[in-house]
Amino acid sequence: MKQDKILITGASGQLGLVLVEKLKEKHGIENIIATDLRLNDDFVGNFKILDANDFDKLTSLVVEYEITQIYHLAAILSANGEKFPLNTWDVNMKTFFNVLEVSRINKVDKIFFPSSIAVYGEDAPKKSTPQNYVLAPSTVYGISKVAGENWSKYYFEKYELDIRSLRYPGVIGYQSLPGGGTTDYAVDIYHKAIHNEDFECFLSENTTLPMIYMDDAIRATIELMDAPKESITVRTSYNLSGMSFSPEELTESIQKIYPNFKTNYKADFRQKIADSWPSSIDDSHARIDWNWKPSFDIKRMTETMIKELKLKERNKLQNI
Ligand code: NAD
Ligand code: SER
Repeated sequence: MKQDKILITGASGQLGLVLVEKLKEKHGIENIIATDLRLNDDFVGNFKILDANDFDKLTSLVVEYEITQIYHLAAILSANGEKFPLNTWDVNMKTFFNVLEVSRINKVDKIFFPSSIAVYGEDAPKKSTPQNYVLAPSTVYGISKVAGENWSKYYFEKYELDIRSLRYPGVIGYQSLPGGGTTDYAVDIYHKAIHNEDFECFLSENTTLPMIYMDDAIRATIELMDAPKESITVRTSYNLSGMSFSPEELTESIQKIYPNFKTNYKADFRQKIADSWPSSIDDSHARIDWNWKPSFDIKRMTETMIKELKLKERNKLQNI
């Protein structure tokens, strides 16, 4: 079997940092080319600065390294995206078109495109939102993800480009801070808790959203990419579910470890975005097609987040 050579865009972001490490373990460090606008200083392996808007540079990397798979993570997320909507559209779409065209021309075997729960709008059923409900998002980020999903299906049907995609819920991990989304509070909160500080939440206490722990999100990505082509029946993007909780429920789970921990609520513009999203989503297509099953619930996630963040903090202090 031919050895895969994998290029990742947006590799210095919240998901990229973790995904690249998993891909290095699985395929060998020499077969992974991580790229981003910014270099992650601790990176070990092949790293190239790449603005994914740059078609020629992307082409030259794909040709030079004989790339067979691209994970296209580069994007502007939901909350940051609302600050400069047209720029968000330009970046999210142009970078994806570059990946699609470079892959088509150079016969890349497989592409991963991350979509989001942000594809749904306020009229969608909040609970267990069905895979095939009408997609009428309220943010430019969501609009760009819906468009990306449809272009994925188009390139698959017209050019047989094997593009696979997940609608990630809010992703929670200890490895880095998130990059400007509406679900960021669920990472930030742990950083306050381990420092015995109160947390000010930008969403109201009862705003329930779909979330997933990082290990599950990365495992789902790799399981989807490894699944036999015939089993992939969704060529837009699969709903993916981990857990659902509100800021109040997350606070309660942290209080089991830090009984004095307190969250204050001061909703801002992100509340409106969160109110337009589902509170839970139905991922039965993923479960049936490629046996998806999450393994982290809120309790296990909180215990792991606190343990890992404390360890990171201790290592940081020891290295000063
Ligand atoms: P992030 O913001 O942490 O990272 C995105 C990375 O893309 C950054 O490192 C940034 O420097 C890079 N980038 C931005 N513009 C670029 C460009 N023009 N060229 C090259 N790199 C560029 O985001 P993330 O949380 O790691 O998300 C990764 C992907 O997953 C995104 O497509 C996002 O929409 C999707 N997603 C994330 C979540 C989540 O909760 N984190 C949920 C749903 C979907
Ligand atoms: N977690 C992401 C965001 O909040 C959802 O795509 O933008």
